Amino acid sequence: MKFLALCGSLRTGSFNGAVVRAAAELCVPPASLEIGPDLGQLAFFNQDVELWALPPKVRELRERCAASAGLLIASPEYARGTSGVLKNALEWLVGSGEQVGKPVALVTASTSAQGGDRAQAWLAETLTMMGTKVLPEGLRIGQAAAKVTDGRLVDEATRQELHALLAELARVAEDTRQDATAG
Ligand SMILES: Cc1cc2nc3c(=O)[nH]c(=O)nc-3n(C[C@H](O)[C@H](O)[C@H](O)COP(=O)(O)O)c2cc1C
Repeated sequence: MKFLALCGSLRTGSFNGAVVRAAAELCVPPASLEIGPDLGQLAFFNQDVELWALPPKVRELRERCAASAGLLIASPEYARGTSGVLKNALEWLVGSGEQVGKPVALVTASTSAQGGDRAQAWLAETLTMMGTKVLPEGLRIGQAAAKVTDGRLVDEATRQELHALLAELARVAEDTRQDATAG
């Protein structure tokens, strides 16, 4: 069971980047998690381009999403919403629908105490509208700078919460797989 992680930050020292790398380590076999394409490489969404000349990077995003059992999305909060690059990636997925029916676990890491709660609420609403099964409890990592050292998520309590979120993602993905087999 393979999951795909998308990171909404392009920053070299990104705390959300540290979260997705930790998630790849913490995913327990037979589940595994691979880190998705650099969202900064995607062209801006344009419906004309979607119809006539789909860029290879967009094709890759769609194919990797389609091949996954579910998504882990880690996002910063910018101006009380998600990042532009993540919103753009979701725009490329919304029309083709590879994400439909897949479970999605949300993480927001922010330097604020609230841990990006408003970006997470925005993502939950948008991804639900896009037909995904957003896990009801995401992870909000506040004061993230104190929890990451040298690009590694080191805070043990946060690692355990992330581990529990991944276990729940795997459980929902397995239920989804069984429902599809039965149906
Ligand atoms: C332009 C800008 C706007 C931001 N807006 C918010 C915000 O509205 N709420 C919040 O909690 N943090 C906000 N932040 C803080 C970011 O969430 C924080 O820097 C976070 O660590 C960025 O994610 P990253 O470490 O993965 O790059 C903002 C940061 C920047 C640079």
